[in-house]
Amino acid sequence: MISDLAEGIVKAQSLLSLPQSIVRIVISGKQRSKAPQFLRVDIRPVLIKSLIHWQVVSHDGKKDITKNLLPSDLNLEQFIESGFANLLIETNQIEFTLRVTKSGQAQSNTRRIPASDISQLERKTNELSHDRVKSRLLDENEELFKHLGITDHEGKLKPSRSDKFKQVQEFLKSIEIAIEFLNRKSEAHIESKPIRIVDLGCGHAYLTFAAHRFVKKLGHSTEVLGVDERAESRDRNNAIAQLLDISNEMKFSATKISQLPKQSTDLTIALHACDTATDDAIAWAVKSQSSVMLIAPCCQHDIQSQMSAAPTPWNIVTRYGILHERVGDIITDSIRAQILRVLGYRTEIIEFIAGDHTPRNLMIRAFKSNKDTTLTTSLKTQRAQDRAHDLQDLDKMIAEWRIAPKLMELLHEELEQARSGAGLS
Ligand SMILES: C[S@@+](CC[C@H](N)C(=O)[O-])C[C@H]1O[C@@H](n2cnc3c(N)ncnc32)[C@H](O)[C@@H]1O
Repeated sequence: MISDLAEGIVKAQSLLSLPQSIVRIVISGKQRSKAPQFLRVDIRPVLIKSLIHWQVVSHDGKKDITKNLLPSDLNLEQFIESGFANLLIETNQIEFTLRVTKSGQAQSNTRRIPASDISQLERKTNELSHDRVKSRLLDENEELFKHLGITDHEGKLKPSRSDKFKQVQEFLKSIEIAIEFLNRKSEAHIESKPIRIVDLGCGHAYLTFAAHRFVKKLGHSTEVLGVDERAESRDRNNAIAQLLDISNEMKFSATKISQLPKQSTDLTIALHACDTATDDAIAWAVKSQSSVMLIAPCCQHDIQSQMSAAPTPWNIVTRYGILHERVGDIITDSIRAQILRVLGYRTEIIEFIAGDHTPRNLMIRAFKSNKDTTLTTSLKTQRAQDRAHDLQDLDKMIAEWRIAPKLMELLHEELEQARSGAGLS
């Protein structure tokens, strides 16, 4: 154990002398009162024109910025100086972690990787090509996939389940970003408390179980609730949780989302909750003050069925059935995102997976902003004006399309409060 930061950095930097032995380097978290420019940085060795480089991918929550550096140009100290708190270096022999604690102390740990895992890591490090397929976040031979029926008794992926497996893997990438966000949000205290995750419309709970396992693998304790209106899903999923011996951490409930009592939640997820069940999920997450929500909507009929009189000139688009449907989808999701925005969530809409795995490949990601008590009066006024414009744009869109979105009805009270806070009522 090293407790001196400079010594820890020297040790970390010395591990870089053999780039081909490195599986991955992850830099994340933030030191107290520091604000690094990125949420997280992932580094791995790659071969470019027969020369080893470091591929450095910096994530800011919206986009990835990739740079390829020569081996001598990677300076880990700079990342710590810029305010990051955690450094993980995984080689094919050891796992080295360096952490700057809240009190500014350094803590480091070196763990030898058990022999049984080494062959797998060596395999990974031998694949140095620039276009190396990104490693999966959860391996298909995880026990849970067998119980869920995604892999066969030998742990091989069943071809019929490969799309679902891929969807889950891709969804986990956003869960990783959500966990980074919770890590940075100091009030979540996620080092001492389990991260509370709720999966709404969980069905056969492929994602629910994978999320639990993944968050545990990231080193956090977690409590997960899966909700589906079908009692068969609840019973099947609870039985699997027992088989995996995790029923103290995972519970399933047979409830309609709209009937689920609100409860304190860190992360709300919903993958393809049908039609307005997605609106129920978003409304539940807002009322439960969920810090993050990751919502991949499903088929949407509610607004499509109300779009009988498209405002000119949109009528030239919506006269074609397929375009009517697509515009309906776009209006539905943009209204959902706008509502979240005016309710204080930093909101993004991304494609969480390529369209050939599922046509329902959009995800609304929303991160609850901290109430900033340190804002100057002029900034507060600016924020209120921005919010007022956002609300007016929302109202205008609804009036022009003559629609009544379900989510506005569900969050009527919250929207009225936002209006009054923005000086609109
Ligand atoms: C398309 S499936 C998706 C299941 C799972 N999230 C997945 O991606 O594998 C939708 C699930 O939502 C459930 N569901 C639909 N409406 C619901 C509601 N209002 N309340 C609770 N569950 C609902 C259905 O029973 C079904 O299991």
